[in-house]
Amino acid sequence: MAHQWRGVIAEYAERLPAHVQERVITLGEGGTPLVPAPELSRLTGAEVFLKVEGMNPTGSFKDRGMTTAISAAAGRGARAVVCASTGNTSASAAAYATAAGMVCAVLVPDGKIAMGKLSQAIAHGATLLQVDGNFDDCLVAARKLAESYPVELVNSVNPDRIEGQKTGAFEVVDALGDAPDIHVLPVGNAGNITAYWRGYREYAGLDHGTDHGAVATHTPAMWGFQAAGAAPIVAGHPITEPETIATAIRIGNPASWAQAERARDVSGGLIEAVTDQQILAAHRILSSRVGVFVEPASAAGVAGILALAEAGRVPAGTRIVVTVTGHGLKDPQWALRTADGAEITPVRVQADVLAIADALGLD
Ligand code: F0G
Repeated sequence: MAHQWRGVIAEYAERLPAHVQERVITLGEGGTPLVPAPELSRLTGAEVFLKVEGMNPTGSFKDRGMTTAISAAAGRGARAVVCASTGNTSASAAAYATAAGMVCAVLVPDGKIAMGKLSQAIAHGATLLQVDGNFDDCLVAARKLAESYPVELVNSVNPDRIEGQKTGAFEVVDALGDAPDIHVLPVGNAGNITAYWRGYREYAGLDHGTDHGAVATHTPAMWGFQAAGAAPIVAGHPITEPETIATAIRIGNPASWAQAERARDVSGGLIEAVTDQQILAAHRILSSRVGVFVEPASAAGVAGILALAEAGRVPAGTRIVVTVTGHGLKDPQWALRTADGAEITPVRVQADVLAIADALGLD
């Protein structure tokens, strides 16, 4: 039988805690492609790869941490889980809870999550509450709920989430044979930058290389990008009313704030902001010139390296990996607008080859 990827717990069993392995709940997450992006290399003067996390079972990187969080909960006999979410965590929690036979409650900011994600959480049978507040309010409520009632919290403040998500860094090193020079991510609640940094540090500490034949000779500089209207780490204080079209990272008070700053500082990296315009421009370059369709938040990292390259701050020839965190189909509406916001509607034609050739401008 052809080899099939077995999910991150089985593939990286020796580097994950024993308690997530007693009752493994997996949907085959991880093993996502590391795609060379020649157009981004050309634009930045670096060698750019994309870690395409939209290829996970529910379409985002959250599945890596949800397999570990739900497996740990299942191992303890938990019956119910809760999360606050800007959308992707809820989609992932709902799917893995269903696979585990658990009930799942999700708290999302009212009107501020993409339709694809809302549909996923509902399709997988979660009880979804739209909270009159932003993500930060939802997370406070979810934490309190888990303290007082018999439900387990599966946000990234749950340490099992970070353990699962660190496998993203493992896969990058195992694919490249070594760590990249720079790793770039969008930053929202700051769990993923924390997780990648942990993964890179663990791999760099191995004396004889990884079980997959790679040797991490160094750790990369961690570059994080927040949306300008939701950039508390850049501002140095919480943002009470975060605003950005990149709803996945519309977060004003990240739970892993201190860990993200540590990853930035110890790695010699940076955390900066990109505007919604820069995010949408990067989103368009990714879809129309690279061939990778992502949701807006996922384009923040690409927007970041393009802005820094323009400012002469990307060292020539460096090897850069950008994690593009979620699939474009989650929030497809952004593809149907031009750069100046005009709606794009397909041309209608008769079912006639001459009319079609004419419409295509063929002679
Ligand atoms: N990109 C996407 C597509 C996300 O959904 C998120 C976070 C991030 C980036 C930021 O990652 O929070 O680890 O810094 N989404 C969370 C959610 C908050 O509820 O789905 P982070």
